[in-house]
Amino acid sequence: MSSPEPIKFTDGAAYERFMAPWSRSAGALFLDWLAPGTGRSWVDVGAGNGAFTELVLAKSAPSSVCAIDPSDAQIEAARKKISAKQVELSIGDAMALPYESNRFDVAVMALVLFFVPDPRKGASEMLRVTKPGGIVASYTWDVMGGGIPAQPLWDEMDAMGKPAARPPSAEISRFAALKALWADLGIRDVETRELVVERTFADFDDYWLSMVVSSPSGIVGKLTDAETAELKRRLQDRLPASASGVITVHAWATAIKGRKAA
Ligand SMILES: C[S@@+](CC[C@H](N)C(=O)[O-])C[C@H]1O[C@@H](n2cnc3c(N)ncnc32)[C@H](O)[C@@H]1O
Repeated sequence: MSSPEPIKFTDGAAYERFMAPWSRSAGALFLDWLAPGTGRSWVDVGAGNGAFTELVLAKSAPSSVCAIDPSDAQIEAARKKISAKQVELSIGDAMALPYESNRFDVAVMALVLFFVPDPRKGASEMLRVTKPGGIVASYTWDVMGGGIPAQPLWDEMDAMGKPAARPPSAEISRFAALKALWADLGIRDVETRELVVERTFADFDDYWLSMVVSSPSGIVGKLTDAETAELKRRLQDRLPASASGVITVHAWATAIKGRKAA
C-alpha cells in the first residue's frame, strides 16, 4: 500500500457537509457531560469552522470564547457564521497557544487532539492557559477502536490498496493513552466517557457526497474512474439501507475531562 498524505482541513463548505453534523451531535453529548456551568471563559482549540463553538454559545452561555485553528479557510468559514461579540476567532496552533497562562475557565479540544503532531504539547498548552481549578477536556473519534465516522470508507479503501489518510496521532484516541496523558500532566478529578452518535443519510447519493466527495482527504480526486466505480459498489454493498433507502451510520468517541490543580 502507498502511504497516504496528511489530512488538510481547507474547504469550509466541504467540511460542513462531511463533519459538521457529526461534530454537532457528538459535541452536544460532550458538552452535556462537561456541564461546566454558564458565564465561563472558554478556549476552543482547533475550532475549525466553528461548529463546536456555536454549540458552546447555545448550550453553555459563555462569557467569552477564544476559538483558534491553524486553517485560514476554516477560520474564514467560522467568521461568516459566527457574529456573537463574545467570540474571538484567531489563526494559530494548539502546540503554541498565543494566550497568557491561567486565563480560561474551560479549555477544550473537540475532535482535534488526534490531529496534533505532539498531543502532549497540545494538552499541556491547554493546561497552561487554564485557570487553577478550571476544566481541561478533549474528545476525539475512537480511531483505534473503529469509531470514526469514515470507518466504512477507510475499510473499503484499505481493501482496494488505497489507504485514506489517518489522523497523525491516532493512538491518543485510546482511553488508556488519554488517561496516561492527563495523569502525567497532573490534571485532577479525571473522568472519561464514550460518546456514541448516529447520522442518517437520505440515500446512497447523500452518503457519497457527504462522506466521500467532501472528505478532506480528497479521495475521489486520487482515484481513476474505474477505482471510483469500485469504491462506490463496495460501499453500496456494505452500507445497509432501510426500505426507503435511508442509510444510518454509527460512530463513537473517547472523551476525557479533569481540573487543573488549584
Ligand atoms: C475535525 S475538525 C474539528 C473542528 C471543531 N473543533 C469541531 O468540533 O467541529 C479538526 C480541526 O483540527 C484542526 N487542527 C489540526 N491540527 C491542529 C493543530 N496542530 N492545532 C490546532 N488545530 C489543529 C484542523 O484545522 C481542524 O479544523
